[in-house]
Amino acid sequence: MACDIAIKIKSKMDAAEAALNSGSTPDELESIRIDILGRNGFFSEISSELKNVPREDKPEAGKAFNEARNRFTELFSAAGKRIESLRKGTEKKLRPDLTLPGRKHRVGKKHPISRVIDDCVNIFRRLGFIVADGPEIETVYNNFDALNTPDEHPSRDPQDTFYFNDGRLLRTQTSPVQIRVMQKQDPPVRIVAPGRCFRRDTPDATHSLNFHQIEGLYVDRDVSMADLKSTLLFFARELIGSKADVRFRPHFFPFTEPSVEYDFSCIMCGGKGCRICKYSGWLEISGAGMVNPAVLRNVGYDPEIWSGYAFGMGIERIAMIRYAINDIRLLYENSSRFLHQF
Ligand code: PHE
Repeated sequence: MACDIAIKIKSKMDAAEAALNSGSTPDELESIRIDILGRNGFFSEISSELKNVPREDKPEAGKAFNEARNRFTELFSAAGKRIESLRKGTEKKLRPDLTLPGRKHRVGKKHPISRVIDDCVNIFRRLGFIVADGPEIETVYNNFDALNTPDEHPSRDPQDTFYFNDGRLLRTQTSPVQIRVMQKQDPPVRIVAPGRCFRRDTPDATHSLNFHQIEGLYVDRDVSMADLKSTLLFFARELIGSKADVRFRPHFFPFTEPSVEYDFSCIMCGGKGCRICKYSGWLEISGAGMVNPAVLRNVGYDPEIWSGYAFGMGIERIAMIRYAINDIRLLYENSSRFLHQF
């Protein structure tokens, strides 16, 4: 029959084993270690008790004690390894896996309208034009009267233009920037003015309540229609290709005289005729002409000394042709799926 002390050792070791197996932190292990191996721990208690063991029990008690010490050392180191691998496992789970593919951040892109504006401005800059700006809310005077557009002109109709109660309006064209610039400075003037305009159109694939134009104005001595045409030709060739051509068609604008509408040769077919140009070989861009002397007089320029040309063009029109966009409304919907194509 086992002696008392051997029984005591066995039951303590069983308890220690259970504690080591369930411990999950280094601190727990350490307190078990102190409890068993510490200066006032279980083993030092047992070794002093061993002295009082009756002689005949000594071999058994001594053997039990030695075995217990070995057993504890093994159990303790096994528990240490288990806890260490546990820690590594959670750490691995918490640590970001740098080999995974990154999360994609969609970088914004320049809107096709902004791109066309920037391209146009850069071409005109090289010809010495500087950029001018004006407000989208304009006076009736700048948008119409100063531009020689009389009261009875249809574009002044509330059907065609957005008016505010105070008499101002959302500009229908970028042409009022011409007036603002000429009122402020003496000739010569050489500006381009890109910006947003508004008209009471019913939206469809080619019409929008707001749209963009870029206006050009050149006033100097002896400016001629030939200057206008060569400028637009240079512009067309820079914008759409060296083979581009420009044609003028007679037209009417109150603020230019003579006035034209101008076309660029079709960029799709080069002028042969295709679906894009409706088989005409030409793409309508916008209006232009020689600045009407009445407009020069309105801003205090002497038309006997100064002459000039002006032109406007539709930015959406150019963007739609260039990027083959078939509905103007797509340009304003802000769908990133659409915009990321350009
Ligand atoms: N402002 C005119 C329009 O919106 C275009 C234009 C500009 C015509 C300058 C002549 C000169 O249709």
